[in-house]
Amino acid sequence: DDSKSGVKGLIDAGISKIPRIFIHDQTIINDSTSSTTQNQFNIPVIDLNGTNFTSDIIQNVREACENWGFFQIINHGIPKKVMDEMIDVVRGFHEMDTEEKIKYYSRDFRKRFLYVSNFHLFTGDSAVWSDSFLSVMAPNRPRSEEIPLICRDTLIEYSDHIMKLGPNLLKLFSEALGLEPNHLENLGCDEGLFIMGHYYPICPQPELTLGTNCHTDAGFFTIILQDLLGGLQILHQNDWVNVSPLPGALVVNVGDLLQLITNDKFKSIHHRVLSQKVMPRISVAAIFRPFHEGIESKIYKPIKELVTKENPRVYMDTSLKEYATLRLTKGMDQSALTPFKVA
Ligand code: SIN
Ligand code: FE2
Repeated sequence: DDSKSGVKGLIDAGISKIPRIFIHDQTIINDSTSSTTQNQFNIPVIDLNGTNFTSDIIQNVREACENWGFFQIINHGIPKKVMDEMIDVVRGFHEMDTEEKIKYYSRDFRKRFLYVSNFHLFTGDSAVWSDSFLSVMAPNRPRSEEIPLICRDTLIEYSDHIMKLGPNLLKLFSEALGLEPNHLENLGCDEGLFIMGHYYPICPQPELTLGTNCHTDAGFFTIILQDLLGGLQILHQNDWVNVSPLPGALVVNVGDLLQLITNDKFKSIHHRVLSQKVMPRISVAAIFRPFHEGIESKIYKPIKELVTKENPRVYMDTSLKEYATLRLTKGMDQSALTPFKVA
């Protein structure tokens, strides 16, 4: 089965033109890429100062989550060495021999570690120029031997750091919303975590396709580690804005579930990744989303302190299952939250 060797397999086979399923509607790709190079926008960069959160930091996080849905963090406590190693092992995994890699190939998301290419093809989106691995890390991570040796120790170490940073970000979000510091943690916003290791191979015709389709993230929030190549863009005020790589920084973004429980105060923003022909790009997305067995019936709704006369309730009670089902059947392109708005 050729699809198991992924997009990288196409490049290894020496193709010079991309197969037709990868070709996207040009109006979608080019709509504003030309203006991207001209616009002067930059997403906020916030110095977390370890975990000593001053009122300035809280204010910056509030503005970033309300106006951008995306920001970069520095002095976040994860050592640069661990981040660099994480990038290296994601590259290492995807550049293993195909025979070795396909042992992990699956489209069954109940697996706790799997490698997959174009898993969302059935939602009507065009194919994308990337391969990924996905590892569930919380509430239960895979048994050690389920994780490929090449990335085992580093993935666990990186994930341990992420699981310390996650609750700290939730504290910041809570305070930025004017809530008790533990409010979001008590709601279980960091209960589920999975980590995706993305590999964007060189693309011979980058102007015809995308590395990742335009989408919003499903979970509460995501922490992205990217290499120095660039390509991640967010839709800000109808313009594609580059998330420029900043050595040592991590990118944080608000997901749909956080937008839902904050009653639209925090924004889950559309983003995408361009493809390019310079060299393979690596990124790591740590997604805080409860997805495990037994959690499906849990209901989320706007936090009552955030519902006021001026800001009436936007969303209905929504079970994780209803939300997940919608994500699977709708194209990634549209806002998955719309069906959950109160009439
Ligand atoms: C994603 O949205 O999961 C991809 C982020 C990236 O590759 O930078
Ligand atoms: Fe994303």
